[in-house]
Amino acid sequence: MKVVVTAGPTREHLDPVRFLSNPSTGKMGFAIAEAASKAGYETVLITGPVTLKTPARLRRIDVVSAREMLKFAMSEMTDDSVFIATAAVADFRPMRCAEKKLKKASMGSVIRLVKNPDILKSIRRKYKGAKLVGFAAETNDVLSEASRKCREKGLEFIVANDVTLNGAGFGTDTNKVFFVYPNGAIIEQKMMTKKALAKKIIHAVFHT
Ligand code: PMT
Repeated sequence: MKVVVTAGPTREHLDPVRFLSNPSTGKMGFAIAEAASKAGYETVLITGPVTLKTPARLRRIDVVSAREMLKFAMSEMTDDSVFIATAAVADFRPMRCAEKKLKKASMGSVIRLVKNPDILKSIRRKYKGAKLVGFAAETNDVLSEASRKCREKGLEFIVANDVTLNGAGFGTDTNKVFFVYPNGAIIEQKMMTKKALAKKIIHAVFHT
């Protein structure tokens, strides 16, 4: 059984030195990839730009943008694989990326954005038999937003984190989450290390 994990942020460049992104460090996604590989599954980790060391016994693919992440996710997945989408994928990218650094004087005050493809939805459309698990990073209406995303993206379950809580979300070594299922079931998890949570997620994917 193969497990494909996405981690970290994506960067959406405006020019070679400027980009849109977010504070994801990759800690949650790397912990999940490590837990999957330690549990004996063939594991592929597709990561945006982060500074973490690659865990042992897995294949790592480095990407920058959401479209690159999508391309590798589509080619690594199969109908009987598991996809765990921990990455904080930028929903939008600048309409144009300049080849050379833009001059401040020529930039103006408006950046035109276009929507990025939704990686989970694209995987679900192509790989109907695959097991998909998502994450939801929320600041408000945590459970209702997570539940909507879980249904819209066709997931087995979604891991909802309130990123306003101390010790949860971006950059921390711990997390506090809920597992939210498409049938309305919700399982609250206590605050724990991202490594411990990663093991619970792998267990939930394969044993429930
Ligand atoms: O990396 P860390 O510093 O450890 O932080 C961990 C984390 C906060 C990034 C992680 O726990 C987390 O919540 N990841 C998901 C963040 C997020 O982007 O959530 P979202 O609600 O925007 O997206 C919902 C789901 O759709 C996610 O599984 C995301 O990977 C996926 N998605 C989003 C946009 C897009 N274009 N395609 C997608 O597949």
